[in-house]
Order: sequence, then C-alpha cells, then structure tokens
Amino acid sequence: MNGKYRSIQMLLGLVGMILVVGVASHDYGDALSKCVLFFEGQRSGKLPSTQRMTWRKDSALRDGADVGVDLVGGYYDAGDNIKFSFPMSFTTTMLAWSILEFGSHMGPEQKNAQEALKWGTDYFLKATSVPGKVIAQVGEPNADHNCWERPEDMDTPRTSYVVNTTNPGSEVSAEIAAALAASSIVFKSVNSQYSKILLQRASQVFQFADQYQGSYNTSVGSGVCPYYCDFDGYMDELIWAAAWLFKATNRQSYMKYVVDNIHYLENSTMRQSKEALFVGGSFAEFGWDAKHAGINVLISRLVMNTSKSDPFVRHADKFICSVLPESPTKLVTYSSGGLLFKPGGSNSQHVTAMSFLLLVYSRYLTRFHRSLECGNIAVTPSRLIQVAKTQADYLLGSNPLSMSYMVGYGRKFPRRIHHRGSSLPSIDTHPKHVKCLEGSIFFKSKYPNFNLLTGAIVGGPDINDQYNDTRINWSQSEPTTYINAPFVGVLSYFKAYPHP
Ligand SMILES: *[C@@H]1O[C@H](CO)[C@@H](O)[C@H](O)[C@H]1NC(C)=O
Ligand SMILES: *[C@@H]1O[C@H](CO)[C@@H](O)[C@H](O)[C@H]1NC(C)=O
Ligand SMILES: *[C@@H]1O[C@H](CO)[C@@H](O)[C@H](O)[C@H]1NC(C)=O
Ligand SMILES: *[C@@H]1O[C@H](CO)[C@@H](O)[C@H](O)[C@H]1NC(C)=O
Ligand SMILES: *[C@@H]1O[C@H](CO)[C@@H](O)[C@H](O)[C@H]1NC(C)=O
Ligand SMILES: *[C@@H]1O[C@H](CO)[C@@H](O)[C@H](O)[C@H]1NC(C)=O
Repeated sequence: MNGKYRSIQMLLGLVGMILVVGVASHDYGDALSKCVLFFEGQRSGKLPSTQRMTWRKDSALRDGADVGVDLVGGYYDAGDNIKFSFPMSFTTTMLAWSILEFGSHMGPEQKNAQEALKWGTDYFLKATSVPGKVIAQVGEPNADHNCWERPEDMDTPRTSYVVNTTNPGSEVSAEIAAALAASSIVFKSVNSQYSKILLQRASQVFQFADQYQGSYNTSVGSGVCPYYCDFDGYMDELIWAAAWLFKATNRQSYMKYVVDNIHYLENSTMRQSKEALFVGGSFAEFGWDAKHAGINVLISRLVMNTSKSDPFVRHADKFICSVLPESPTKLVTYSSGGLLFKPGGSNSQHVTAMSFLLLVYSRYLTRFHRSLECGNIAVTPSRLIQVAKTQADYLLGSNPLSMSYMVGYGRKFPRRIHHRGSSLPSIDTHPKHVKCLEGSIFFKSKYPNFNLLTGAIVGGPDINDQYNDTRINWSQSEPTTYINAPFVGVLSYFKAYPHP
C-alpha cells in the first residue's frame, strides 16, 4: 500500500470514528440548557430583567381582576395563551422531581431550573391565596383557540375559573398540593423561608382537595373540557399529593393516606377517551391526567425491601414491564425507528415521562440491589437506562429523519411549530397590535416561525417515524410544558453519564 492510500485510509478511519462518536452521543449539556430555557418562552405576566428569551414581553397583566385576586404570572401550557392549572401543576411537580433526583448533575443549569420551578410555585401561591378556593384556570379557552394572537396582544376574555367548597375540583387542587410539596423540598436548602410557605400551603390545599371531593369536570365544565378534562378521576392526584407531602414532612398520617387509598387505583377499568387509552390497568399510566405509575415509583423508594412494599413495588415492576420493548407484557408500541408510542396526541409527552420514570426506578433498584423479571425475561437496572437513552437520543436526532424534535438543538429541527408567540413576529419588530384573526396568515404561512422557542420539544413524528413540519397538525408540531419538565431530569442524568 503506498503512502497516499494509507493516508486516505487513515482519513477514512478518522471520519468513521467521528461519525460513530457523532451518532453515539449527543451534547446533553447543550440540550439541557435549552430544555430549561424553553420555560422562559412560556412565561405569562411581568417578565423580569433577567429574562433571556427576549422576544417575549409582558402579557396578561390584569389576570385575576375579575375575581379580585392577583393572578399575574404562571405558564401558558403550550402553543396557546391559557393558564390551565391542572397541566401547569403537573409540570411544576415534574420540574421539582427532576431537580430533586438529578439536580446535582445539572451544573449551572440547576439555578435556572430552580428559577423555572419558582415561576410555577409563585403563581400557585397566588392561585391558592384565598382559603377554600383554588384557581383552576385563567382564560376562556374557546375564544382563545379561535384566535391566532401573541400573548402580548391578547384581547380574549381572561375569565378566572374558581373551584370552591361547593363546586370542588380535587384533581386540580391535589396536583397543586403535590407541586407545592415537592417544590418545598427543592427550596429547603436554597430558601428555607420560602420552602416553609410552600409546604404550609401544600398541606392546606391538600386538606381542601380531600375534604371537598369532586371533579372540576363538573365544577368548571366547558371551561376545561375538552382541553384538559380529568378523564381518570381524582383519587390518583389525592394519593400523589399525600405521597409528596409524606416525602416533604415524614408525617405518618400522609403515608397512611397513601396506603389506605391505593386500592382505589388497583383495578381501574379499561376505558377510552379522546386523549388516552387506559389499557389493562392504570399502573401503566403517567402524565398530566394519570399519576399512577409515578405514585408507585415514588413510594417504591421508601418501601423497597420492606414488608410494606406491596402493591407499590409490584405495580412499579409491572409498569416497567409495560414499557420495555422485549417484555412479553408490553403495552406500548415502538416505531421501527425505535420511538415509544402510546395512544393520544402529543406523543412526546409519553416518551419523556416514561423515560424519566425508567431512570428514576433504575436508580432505586440499584440502591436496593434489586432487579426484576418481565415474564421469564430478566431485567437489570442498566437495561432501564439503556431504553431511556434510546428515547432521549431519538428525540435529539438519532432517528430515521435525522431530525431533532427540540427547537434549536442540532442542525435539523422543527421550524413551523404550532405556537402563537413563536410563529408571529415579535413586538420588537412588529409593535402594532395583531388582532385575533389577523394572525391567521402567519398560522397558514409556509415560512418558518419568526421566533425560535429554543428548547421546545414538539409532539413529534407519527408511528412511521414521519414528521410534517407544519403548524396545522398540533399533535405533531405543538410543544407543551409537560413534555419538557420530565426531560429536564432525563437530560441531566445523561449529561453526567453520557455513556452509561
Ligand atoms: C362556588 O362557586 C360557585 C360558582 O362560581 C358559586 O355559585 C358558589 O356560590 C361558590 N360557593 C362558595 C361556597 O363560595
Ligand atoms: C370528565 O369528563 C370526561 C369527558 O366528558 C369524561 O370522560 C370523564 O369520565 C370525566 N371525569 C370525571 C372524573 O368525571
Ligand atoms: C384487583 O383484582 C385482583 C385480580 O383480579 C384481585 O385479586 C384484587 O382483590 C382486586 N383488588 C381490589 C381492590 O378490588
Ligand atoms: C433487597 O432484596 C434483594 C432481593 O430481592 C437483595 O438481593 C438485596 O440485597 C436487598 N437489598 C438490601 C439493601 O437489603
Ligand atoms: C397528525 O399527527 C398525528 C400524530 O402523529 C397523525 O396520527 C395524524 O395522521 C396526523 N394528521 C394529518 C392530517 O397529517
Ligand atoms: C403530511 O402531510 C400530508 C399531506 O397533508 C399527509 O398526507 C401525510 O399523512 C402527513 N404526514 C404525517 C406524518 O402526518
């Protein structure tokens, strides 16, 4: 072989190595920074001078005026301009859990993640400031959805929907209690005074949720339905809140509440809703509506290897077996490109939430030197990490289209996300008010969005690994806060352990 060939061969070898490395690993640190930054783009209210996503401006500064309560702040849930407390509180709980479990791996992002969390908890302190009342939502969703408007221009009714002792909403109240309790643990060492306020409010709101039981489906009705109806009842949120309150206080009465009530969730019947299909038992569900798998994983940490492990560890194991690709009792499907799918829209929400639980449970199993079996297949903790990693990598671009589903991450990512603020020109370049339907031309436009909503993870591709980069299909192209929140934890883990 002459020198020329050898150097070509060496060069090819080098290129091959770079390709392999490039494919095998992502810049999880970069993805994490963006994943956290996204929350600034969803902020409602008066933006602070530290705001980094500067194309966004103050919005909804009179929220709460209709009920005489200051409700300025909080997060828009997705690509619209409504503040839905139910998914917003789940988002907050998951941000808190991400920080609790993986905060030590976050580096400088831990501070930003705490800020993102506080933006949620500050709002929930306002939304629960009147005893016996909880703000379930701000904004009239039908009017809002009929417009394509920047939050800064919003002129649709900012109706405040309130649940109270005679018109209760146990799911939304209990999820807020869970969020406040989980967050109180995060802030314990950072701001102990704030942490105490959160915890005190959490227990007060939990008591309200438990004492006056009922679904906000009925109380708020068309205010929340069909957007965030509570499909699976409120028992899961009450137990979930009690579990977080136990973790925050170590008070046995909360653990007793969990143990005494967990049987309500055991044999949930199969049913189909527009959003989700609860197949073969609710132990397999985890998202803004269903907390079941989260409860079992969270409690497993406390009872593993004790006589009190049942049904928590048994159901957490069953959950894992409902997810792993090789499991004989799998209840999810995988695309040929390897992405996990569950029924219902916005599939990435399942991908990030399931991956989060896989990682967390893997750590708990490792701590107790346990493994598990799915049928006759042995499953090690490291297998759970592997599956979570394939999911994270898929979303970041290791997929048949070589497309990152996180805006601003990688070379190829969604440019036409279903998001009002991102798709319309910023106030900076277009200060003139854009009225309700005047925004439609931007919705229909074939051009990329004006503003990068950096870090936003969209609903994602279809089961054939195909993705249309258009605003029309919200199920594929809309980001939501509850897609990103668990992914903050997932990315923190892989930032610390990129080659598990
Ligand atoms: C609860 O809210 C409903 C609907 O707004 C209202 O009619 C009812 O009087 C309220 N109950 C209490 C105890 O404030
Ligand atoms: C809430 O409403 C949805 C849609 O109408 C329904 O499927 C669900 O059963 C209701 N949930 C509760 C807890 O009433
Ligand atoms: C749930 O179903 C299992 C199996 O059918 C049964 O053994 C168990 O008693 C049921 N639990 C409750 C609380 O109904
Ligand atoms: C927990 O139980 C497993 C068996 O299921 C055992 O191998 C392990 O050593 C136990 N761990 C602790 C910390 O007791
Ligand atoms: C919209 O996206 C969903 C989820 O990927 C897909 O199942 C559906 O076919 C898409 N609809 C259209 C009209 O493209
Ligand atoms: C993309 O859009 C085309 C045309 O509307 C449609 O036929 C196709 O099903 C869409 N693909 C996906 C993945 O939604």
